[in-house]
Amino acid sequence: MNLINNGKLDFSQLESIIKKPKLFTKDKVNFWQDPYISEHILYAHLDDESDEGSRKYETVIKSVLWLSEYMNMPQGSRLLDLGCGPGLYSEHFHGQGFKVTGIDFSQSSIDYAKEEAKASQYDIEYICQNYLEIDYNNEFDVITLIYGDLCVLSHQERDLLLTKVRKALKPGGYLIFDLFTKQYFKDGHEKQTWYLSQEEGFWKEEEHLLLHEHFKYKKDKVRLEKYTMIMNDGQMQSYHIWKHYFSLKRAKEMMKQHQFNLKDFWSDLCGKPYEIESPWIGIIAQKS
Ligand SMILES: C[S@@+](CC[C@H](N)C(=O)[O-])C[C@H]1O[C@@H](n2cnc3c(N)ncnc32)[C@H](O)[C@@H]1O
Repeated sequence: MNLINNGKLDFSQLESIIKKPKLFTKDKVNFWQDPYISEHILYAHLDDESDEGSRKYETVIKSVLWLSEYMNMPQGSRLLDLGCGPGLYSEHFHGQGFKVTGIDFSQSSIDYAKEEAKASQYDIEYICQNYLEIDYNNEFDVITLIYGDLCVLSHQERDLLLTKVRKALKPGGYLIFDLFTKQYFKDGHEKQTWYLSQEEGFWKEEEHLLLHEHFKYKKDKVRLEKYTMIMNDGQMQSYHIWKHYFSLKRAKEMMKQHQFNLKDFWSDLCGKPYEIESPWIGIIAQKS
């Protein structure tokens, strides 16, 4: 899309930016896989002190140690880390004796994870793939989906993924995941903000104007972060980040619908007791 038409600013194009998109409208470009953006997401994952791309390094370690102790599984149990990013959790689960497969569709993250595993001589299998396309049958003891991945999918995609995950797990196998709650968006009112990026930014190397809109879809319990980048030649590109939030009741219903037993739940994936005000729910469910 271009904002400039016959040398003039085309306001009808601007309207398309501010209009509330239909629920789960897809982007033309998947930002996770855009070579420039995914490189910057990788930097965010690797920032030990930030919760941006991944949780802080100390939280990742705490989580893996706690979950491993909680599951208390035999050495060599097979673990599938879906949306593994650069392999922060995969590596530590490997260190806890799991035989790990990590899947992510970001080529930059998978390349990094493979290099790290090779340099450290870790026997971890990394696959660059869309996890909605996995096709395993009774193969894994544990499947992880960490940092809200189930929340950013459409209803249809989530159902598809949970069906595939259930099929991929051995009977009694564990599914570990976390969900946003309404509290996650406590201060998030519908709003529009913008900034001018004059140097290499997160979304683009060249100078650009970045518009950010936060939309609410109250009935559907979904929020949207919409980022629109406008370049100095009038070209523009929008990215939608859908964020679905859950109550414990809805999480339990979702597990029941997909034939999992919700075994335990917390305020995070490090064993913090569940509190109604928590922005996250950490869940371990078992294939029934
Ligand atoms: C929020 S990050 C979390 C990464 C990792 N679990 C962590 O906590 O360090 C989500 C990851 O899921 C990946 N991802 C998102 N949708 C995916 C899909 N459909 N198939 C494969 N990977 C996906 C992204 O590329 C990204 O690496």
